[in-house]
Amino acid sequence: MLILGIETSCDDTGVALYDRDQGLRAHALYSQLGHAAFGGVVPELASRDHIQKLLPLIDALLHDAQVALPDLSGIAYTAGPGLAGALLVGAALARSLAFGLAIPAIGIHHLEGHLLAPQLETDAPEFPFLALLVSGGHTLLADVSALGRYTILGESRDDAAGEAFDKSAKVLGLGYPGGPAISAAAEHGSDVGIALPRPLTDRPGLEFSFSGLKTALLHAASAQPLDSSRQANLACALQEAIVDTLAIKCRRALLVTGHKRLVIAGGVGANQRLRSRLAQETQELGVALYYPRPAFCTDNGAMIAYAGCLRLAAGQTDSGEFGVRARWPLSELSPP
Ligand code: KG4
Ligand code: ZN
Repeated sequence: MLILGIETSCDDTGVALYDRDQGLRAHALYSQLGHAAFGGVVPELASRDHIQKLLPLIDALLHDAQVALPDLSGIAYTAGPGLAGALLVGAALARSLAFGLAIPAIGIHHLEGHLLAPQLETDAPEFPFLALLVSGGHTLLADVSALGRYTILGESRDDAAGEAFDKSAKVLGLGYPGGPAISAAAEHGSDVGIALPRPLTDRPGLEFSFSGLKTALLHAASAQPLDSSRQANLACALQEAIVDTLAIKCRRALLVTGHKRLVIAGGVGANQRLRSRLAQETQELGVALYYPRPAFCTDNGAMIAYAGCLRLAAGQTDSGEFGVRARWPLSELSPP
């Protein structure tokens, strides 16, 4: 079973080939650069870029992997959540290609892709596990008991952690995407003397909130002139506050659920400070920590091809539905 995966939910065009027996055969990504000038993703530009890049990217992927279209057994594409126009580009191509080849097309939930991405690695987590999903659009803790069985234990009431990185980077004049820019700047800074909140950590529960933290950073940034050393110190303080908050909630969730495996997924999972902090926490608790390689933390086609392969191999059939869902709660998913 050889599955082509297509990811177009935001500003990355990702494609991959996943083979049920041989594993990941190939993957390719085109990251749109035009949005940096606007300090965030411009939906219309994203859709147009996907239209231009998707087909050549698939052609090159198949060529490099020496795979011909008739070799494919199915096509998996991201059906949501995400930018409606961007999702439609991937869905339209996946559905028409699958129709032409008379093979199934299957719409995958973007967050299911992220949750399963660590299973693409050699040291793959088995079900069940606790997952921290931290991306630009979502921050949540989920109990993952099997493919399609996800119980959300807590999520953000407002901004996602990645959004806090992105918006704060804009305030600090550090560019887009904010996560990598903040962590690069933080290496030259110190958080000593900068008090930023660790939201909702002083009360029980597993919910998150990052919009107040972003406002606190804005106040701290306007209190003094923003030279490069102040920029680095504020970046460091923000990263520490986000990492601290995520680590406190992960520890709490591990203690509450008794899970012995913790999976980190989503773009913010590429953050090295978060990884080392969680390594320390999980070691203390005797919990095994898993995460994908940094390239599979952020959006990619491999996670979609993999999720599609699991679902098709488990007997899920093509629903024939063409629609995409800009909003799609993870809790609505069910096993194949
Ligand atoms: O998963 P992803 O690629 O897209 C969504 O599904 O949202 O996540 C993108 C987010 C952005 O907010 C970006 O700033 C953040 O992940 N990010 C990082 C790092 N790399 C990407 N945040 C912190 N540290 C990083 N190294
Ligand atoms: Zn994502």
